[in-house]
Amino acid sequence: MAVTIKSQREIDLMRHSCKLLAKVHEELGKAIEPGISTLDIDRLGEKLIRGYGCVPNFLHYQGYPASICVSVNDEVVHGIPRADRILQEGDIVSLDCGLIYKGYHSDAARTYGVGRISPEARQLIDETRNSFFEGIKMARAGNHLHDISNRIDEYISRFGYGIVEDLVGHGIGTSLHEDPQIPNFRQRRKGVRLQAGMTLAVEPMINMGGYEVEWLDDDWTVVTEDGSLSAHYENTILVTDGEPEILTLL
Ligand code: MF3
Ligand code: CO
Repeated sequence: MAVTIKSQREIDLMRHSCKLLAKVHEELGKAIEPGISTLDIDRLGEKLIRGYGCVPNFLHYQGYPASICVSVNDEVVHGIPRADRILQEGDIVSLDCGLIYKGYHSDAARTYGVGRISPEARQLIDETRNSFFEGIKMARAGNHLHDISNRIDEYISRFGYGIVEDLVGHGIGTSLHEDPQIPNFRQRRKGVRLQAGMTLAVEPMINMGGYEVEWLDDDWTVVTEDGSLSAHYENTILVTDGEPEILTLL
């Protein structure tokens, strides 16, 4: 499938979808505290999404059973919410969430500390977020897709962290996952030429230890192979002729 270029009308719909998602994330972030279960987070997220008249796009996606992916500590992404998974002081938790507004998808992820966390965990979260902002500096018309990938890799390498390679960012629009795939690590090829009107979900997944990951028996939950902590930060962005517009921020 080719990379889609959104019309002005589609861009406005994407903007609205993404703003609503940013509000959902803001509310979810406030709910993170020791004692909450990962299922409570999912329930709250689904309620907020439906309250805006939208549909959670992760629910039933390829059989995924929830609206929010809630991934704790060494879980990288796609953690399945559970009533008996209670957040504890010192944990880190990644919330990945998306919704559909009038047929247009949005997708964003944040990682939070639960109560007080170690300085090392804090740094992992902060640098994962920073790597997103570094990477998207390259997201402008005329550059190539892998300029983003290369910049994220270049930024993260100095910390000795592992960049997950088995999962990547993606185009987004009338489907949750559109072309192109967006790796977060160095690429030999340039990738497609970026054009104004592309909407992309850029989402570095960064491990404190090695880059290797594995899948749990539930066939969803991705964990670090060495048990090290992992952080995730994602926004849906719009490519323009100048600075990209970050659609899933308030
Ligand atoms: N947010 C994920 C992504 O960025 C999609 C999760 S799909 C689900 O691609 F089924 F796990 F929810
Ligand atoms: Co995504």
